[in-house]
Amino acid sequence: MEEHKYLCPYCGEIFEAFEDLKGHALSSHKEEPLPLPEGMVRLTINGEMYEVQVQPEWTLNYLIHDKLGLTSPKMFCDRGACGSCTVIMNGRPILSCMTLAIECDGNRIETAEGIADAGHPLVETYVKHHCMQCGYCTPGFITTAKALLDKNPDPEEEEIREALGGNLCRCGTYPQHPKAIMEAADMLREREGGK
Ligand code: FES
Ligand code: FES
Repeated sequence: MEEHKYLCPYCGEIFEAFEDLKGHALSSHKEEPLPLPEGMVRLTINGEMYEVQVQPEWTLNYLIHDKLGLTSPKMFCDRGACGSCTVIMNGRPILSCMTLAIECDGNRIETAEGIADAGHPLVETYVKHHCMQCGYCTPGFITTAKALLDKNPDPEEEEIREALGGNLCRCGTYPQHPKAIMEAADMLREREGGK
C-alpha cells in the first residue's frame, strides 16, 4: 500500500499522519498567516495588501503597472539603464523592470501614487521648479528622491546628484531636481518642527 507523508507548509517538517500535522500547525504556527499556494505573492503597495497569482517571468513592473493598474512606474529601457521604472521596496529605490514579481513576496512597496496621496512636498516642489517637460521620467525621479529624503533629511546638492545618478531624462530637466528636493527637505523639516 502506498505510504503518505505530510509536509508542514510553514516549516517543512514531515509527519506520518495528517492528524499529527494538524496538531503541529495549530500549536506551532497558529499566529502565522495562511501559507499561499505556489505562484502567489503577498505584497503591500502604498499601504494596501495585495495577494496575487503571478507567473514566474512577470517583472514587478508588469505586475504593478499592467496588472494592478498603478501606472506611475514607467517602462522605458526595460534593461536597468534609465530609472524610469523605479519604485521603493523596503525603503530602497529599486528598478521594477529588473525585479521578478515572484521574488517580492512579503515586501513593502511605494510608488509615486502613494507618495502623492500621502501629500509629500516633493510633488509640490517638482511642479514649482518645473522638473518635468514630457513627465515620463518624473515618477522614477520622485521615488528615488523620496527614498533619499527618508534616509537623509538634509542632503547636499552633490548627494542629491549622486542619488539621482541612475535616473535619465530625455528632456534634460537635470538642473531643476536638486532645487526641488532641497525645498521639499526644508518643508519636511518645518513640518517636523511644527509637531
Ligand atoms: S525601464 Fe527600468 S531601468 Fe529603464
Ligand atoms: S521630463 Fe521628459 S524624459 Fe524627463
